[in-house]
Amino acid sequence: MLVLPVLAGLVSLVAALNVTLSSNTVLDTSGIYFVSYDGLVNVNSFQASAVITHSGYQYAAWYNSNRSAMLARRALPSGAWSKFSLSHTLSTNDSHNVISLGVSPADGVIHVAMDCHSSTMYYTKSVAGLANDPASKTWAASSFGSIQTTLGGLNIGTTVTYPQFVVTPENKLQFVYRTAVSGNGAAQLAEYSSGTWSNVGQWTSATGSYTANGATSTARNLYIHGFTYSKSGRVHTSGTWRENNGGVSCSSGGLTNHDTVYFYSDDRGRTWSNSAGTKIGTSGSSPISVSTAGIIVDPLNADHALMNQESQTTDSQSLPHIIISYVPGRFGQCVSSYESGRIANGYAFHLFRSSSGTWTKTEIPLAIGSVGRSQIFLDPQDNAYVVLPFVRVMAATKASNYTDWALVYDGKSSLNAFGEVTLDRRRLETERVVSILFQESSSSGSPSSVRVVDLKF
Ligand SMILES: *[C@@H]1O[C@H](CO)[C@@H](O)[C@H](O)[C@H]1NC(C)=O
Ligand SMILES: *[C@@H]1O[C@H](CO)[C@@H](O)[C@H](O)[C@H]1NC(C)=O
Ligand SMILES: *[C@@H]1O[C@H](CO)[C@@H](O)[C@H](O)[C@H]1NC(C)=O
Ligand SMILES: *[C@@H]1O[C@H](CO)[C@@H](O)[C@H](O)[C@H]1NC(C)=O
Repeated sequence: MLVLPVLAGLVSLVAALNVTLSSNTVLDTSGIYFVSYDGLVNVNSFQASAVITHSGYQYAAWYNSNRSAMLARRALPSGAWSKFSLSHTLSTNDSHNVISLGVSPADGVIHVAMDCHSSTMYYTKSVAGLANDPASKTWAASSFGSIQTTLGGLNIGTTVTYPQFVVTPENKLQFVYRTAVSGNGAAQLAEYSSGTWSNVGQWTSATGSYTANGATSTARNLYIHGFTYSKSGRVHTSGTWRENNGGVSCSSGGLTNHDTVYFYSDDRGRTWSNSAGTKIGTSGSSPISVSTAGIIVDPLNADHALMNQESQTTDSQSLPHIIISYVPGRFGQCVSSYESGRIANGYAFHLFRSSSGTWTKTEIPLAIGSVGRSQIFLDPQDNAYVVLPFVRVMAATKASNYTDWALVYDGKSSLNAFGEVTLDRRRLETERVVSILFQESSSSGSPSSVRVVDLKF
């Protein structure tokens, strides 16, 4: 009896979180469509992002069914998309080979990194000012330089994956990427200043040993959920280790991802500290490894199809909020197929740190129903919204300590999204609108529409 008024109070709190569709626009009715690694090349969580806002214009990138890399822009909130193709075509049918966009605010250059999976990366950048003075510049391929196989002159090798652009509090552009391969790779950081890219260094390493299920693995890579600057200027990163030796998982059909780790840097990615504030690493000379102390904030063995590269954000107090997903133990202690297991029984979890340093994890009570990943964002009051696959938005209030999760927008049947989506996180910094890039589901191989939907919250 005592419980009822409390529950009623929570229900009304989350019911006040109002999410409504304000526009649904098409970028291309003929987006390339093939499913590889359970994903589409036009929409992947780790893209971060294919849709970004800068100075009142929004930019998007995707591959057309003729394999051309396409770019579009529109004046916000409701200008028409204007698009063109870059002189590059997708080299292989691999969904890792996404297009990732960035803008360097100091010079208004648009940067495009694309088409790599443990391979040479393709890169081009625009003329200066294109993004800072958009109305007076020509929006065409002629405003971009030739396609390069270096990061604008910086040699980043021939085994690049997961290019991501990030803007620092000083409005410098940084570039986060992985070198080498899955299960044996390193996270790397580069920085753009006065028109020149330079290397900051390797910040995670493959070294050390991990033993589980009677097997020892001697190499791995850290898959990151993001590289996120908060208001305080701290950069936060979280992730999961992917082991090289499949024997550490209970089943060969599982994923060797284990544990959620978290650490941060207060000097723009040069030195690193764990959640307790202890210095644990230096980019270049002493990267973070599986042996680094005090970085696991949510332990989990490699038996639960824990997903890599989900999402994270930070709140008004500069505290991290992370989404992870896996098959909870109530469905069994060994997932024998990560794909069917996640579709049948996968759930997303919200993991956040309080100012006192304690971590709280809450299951989001709607089955993901997909192999794919979910994206978190917060409103200015720090209420949480999570875009699950198929554009289903679950929300919870800060006032409830993120316990009153409810479905606040359901685009599953109306939007026909393939699954995973990517968000415009730059637009979220200044507007209560989330732009979501997705691609419509399609029967085998036929091109489908690539779209941007705007939700007000
Ligand atoms: C939700 O927002 C829409 C559009 O802003 C508004 O028309 C509607 O009344 C709101 N609904 C609630 C329950 O606040
Ligand atoms: C591919 O299609 C796009 C959109 O119609 C077009 O702009 C581009 O020129 C085409 N690319 C090639 C290589 O034909
Ligand atoms: C939320 O957590 C804080 C700190 O643990 C606690 O003081 C507060 O009472 C909690 N609020 C609710 C609604 O559970
Ligand atoms: C790549 O995907 C396209 C689009 O689905 C398809 O037409 C083509 O046959 C695929 N190529 C290979 C080599 O699988």
